Amino acid sequence: MNNSFWQESIKIENLTIPRFMAAPLDGVTDSPLRQLIRHFSPTELLMTEMRHVACVSNEKDGRTLKYDPVEQPLAFQFSANKLDFIDQAVEKVIAAGFIMINLNCGCPAPCVTKSGSGSALMADIPRFIQIINQFTKAINGRVPFTVKIRAGYKQKNALEFAKVAQDHGASSIMIHPRTQPEGFTSRLDFDLARQVKEALSVPVVFSGNINSFAHAKRVHELTGVDGFMIGRALWGAPWKMREITDAAQDKVFTVDTSLALDYALKHLDLNLQCFGPRGFIPFKKQLPQYIRSVHDASTWRGRLLQTQSADDMRAMLQELVQPTQRQTSGISI
Ligand SMILES: Cc1cc2nc3c(=O)[nH]c(=O)nc-3n(C[C@H](O)[C@H](O)[C@H](O)COP(=O)(O)O)c2cc1C
Repeated sequence: MNNSFWQESIKIENLTIPRFMAAPLDGVTDSPLRQLIRHFSPTELLMTEMRHVACVSNEKDGRTLKYDPVEQPLAFQFSANKLDFIDQAVEKVIAAGFIMINLNCGCPAPCVTKSGSGSALMADIPRFIQIINQFTKAINGRVPFTVKIRAGYKQKNALEFAKVAQDHGASSIMIHPRTQPEGFTSRLDFDLARQVKEALSVPVVFSGNINSFAHAKRVHELTGVDGFMIGRALWGAPWKMREITDAAQDKVFTVDTSLALDYALKHLDLNLQCFGPRGFIPFKKQLPQYIRSVHDASTWRGRLLQTQSADDMRAMLQELVQPTQRQTSGISI
């Protein structure tokens, strides 16, 4: 394999972006986590959590469109099950400055698929064509339009589906090669991802278990894909993409316990800024990763998860912080 491959960018229409990018994780990769990922990874594409077109179109306070400018380059991900609301939602997203629009055709959650959104769209290609046509007409070339898919809904049809998406205007396909019943844990279908890559002319991005550069290299050998999305590995570890991109340049980037705890405190504060005084509650799902290397982590985790206020949580985290702060890999805190 050509070693410069990892240093090259990929081009999605007018956008030039690094090969590694952050995957959307609903309830996890929200604005606070994305801002912290940006501290470590200044140029990689980030993506919002999936939001239904009706929600974006109808909301009065524009909550789903709020982000901090540091999150750019930032793509917006929609879900949709019919044509209603697409035009208005697209206008709002473009006006808010998102640099790409992505359509989710991969979510396996029954609460999403029962309305025909997410991965259920893969089982209804005629309806998908109507929806994608509506998106590309509404976007009218102003930002790239991309589609995130699975191996299929109940049956694997990613190859046919990805070709249809490309033929109707998708300028990149992100594939998580598992079917809807396979959720997020079964074996990934590398062969199917390779077939999709070989059949398409637009960039194909792989999503699934990328948690190290060694793994990304293996995925590339097996599939030939152009790009790599990092999902769960970023959960409570905003430095993870930096670890991987540095490894791709033969560099070592590590975050020690002390810096991880500092970032836990930063993350807590950003959650409070973003979600108000109750913001410490959603932060609880990020906490276990941040503290996993502290001594007696499981006891601390139990205590932290039981805290009833942001002040208690902050005090407990400060108790954990080493008195002497170290600096790691040039990131100053
Ligand atoms: C909690 C959770 C939430 C997710 N939310 C989204 C989402 O909003 N949009 C989406 O396209 N994929 C979503 N995914 C799928 C991920 O983007 C990704 O494709 C999948 O987790 C596999 O990659 P990973 O192994 O790197 O996490 C979600 C996955 C998880 C576990």
